Amino acid sequence: MQKIAIFASGSGSNFQAIINSIENGFITNVSCEILVCDKPNAFVIERANRLGISTLVLNPKDFNSKESYELEILNKLNEKEINFIVLAGYMRLIGSTLLNAYEGRMVNIHPSLLPKYKGKDAIKQAYEANELEYGITVHYVDSGMDTGSIIEQMSLTTDSRDLSYIESEIHKLEHILYPKVIKSLLSEV
Ligand code: GRF
Repeated sequence: MQKIAIFASGSGSNFQAIINSIENGFITNVSCEILVCDKPNAFVIERANRLGISTLVLNPKDFNSKESYELEILNKLNEKEINFIVLAGYMRLIGSTLLNAYEGRMVNIHPSLLPKYKGKDAIKQAYEANELEYGITVHYVDSGMDTGSIIEQMSLTTDSRDLSYIESEIHKLEHILYPKVIKSLLSEV
């Protein structure tokens, strides 16, 4: 059994999609042992509570360094024997403490066709550039922002100028692709 931790900062729709895929048997041999969240008011915490998944909610401002913040997380991950980290809307760069422990065992999803449109508001960046091709990328995490090696991408071609429509279509793709990639990286065939 692979024990994963999911890190998220926001609404947690990707978190939910992954848990659904574990619960409905699409992803096998994987259990999500903990949600790590850096935003005490994030909706994802409510989702985890409803699903009965334990949470570690920490405010980085309560720590005097990134290292001490990440050490607290790392201790918890060690205690729970976590062997893989899934970032799902975790709006923070991973520092050396977690990277040294989990590099090659940590993935992220980003709503653009990387290497284009890294960082925040990636869908809006593509929209403002009048792109006709949008997309999503699952990649390994390294010390940069959305720079790790690419595992899989999916694209969406549209000439719509309705940003909220594009965003919702992109999120639908994320909820398909991320569980699929996690399954292929982690499950027994
Ligand atoms: C997703 O678009 C993901 O690609 C990005 O952050 C967003 C998180 O959305 N990294 P949600 O919290 O999973 O709904």
